[in-house]
Amino acid sequence: MRLDKFFSNTGILSRSQCAKECRAGNVTCDGETVRDPSCNIDPDKNVIAYKGDIISYSEYVYIMMNKPLGYVCSNDEPGELLVFDLLDERYRRPDLFTVGRLDKNTTGLILITNDGKSAHNALSPKRHVEKKYEFTLADPLSEEDRASLEKGAVLADGYVTKPCKIEMKTDRDGIVILSEGKYHQIRRMFASVSNKVVLLKRTEFGGISLDNSLKPGEYRLLTDEETGSFINAKRSI
Ligand code: URA
Repeated sequence: MRLDKFFSNTGILSRSQCAKECRAGNVTCDGETVRDPSCNIDPDKNVIAYKGDIISYSEYVYIMMNKPLGYVCSNDEPGELLVFDLLDERYRRPDLFTVGRLDKNTTGLILITNDGKSAHNALSPKRHVEKKYEFTLADPLSEEDRASLEKGAVLADGYVTKPCKIEMKTDRDGIVILSEGKYHQIRRMFASVSNKVVLLKRTEFGGISLDNSLKPGEYRLLTDEETGSFINAKRSI
């Protein structure tokens, strides 16, 4: 593998940063300074260090972001603000994608990775991975509507949603826990009882909770434990 690809895969340096740091003599392979960012290395055999720190290699990157309002979960949508625009240069990589999507007007937890297999598993309808959202409605929700939505909502296209959990904090604010992810599902569920979602924020995805210290637009790498939960995302209800 090329040295600059090794660094960009780890998320430590972009390819151009790697070239600069090599020129500056800050990169070593088995203790020898490497000036050529295109040289071939073997991550399993060679010890690569940057400014004296040994770099442990991971093929995959797992990021949690607190998605702000108005950004879209797409790699390329002309005229729109993209969640990827919020990433630092070292994560501006064509192989990164969001694990599912949040609407432009939904905020909160979005996972970004290049691990296609785990993302596919986490999104697979067979896994029933739970996602938790906080919502605010335009109108009060009656207990009858809450209970009927929990059992299954009939969406405008005739699709009947799987049972879910809805807990109200006030008559307009609550949390919903879904184990499926149809397009605009929550907005369409409440629309089916003639209500409207005015605020929607995802706070959990498959046992991973949004880090409350992340302000809208901020992100961090998943911890090892969170990465484990994502890779092993299991049926939860
Ligand atoms: N349901 C929605 O309606 N929108 C989202 O962004 C996520 C779930």
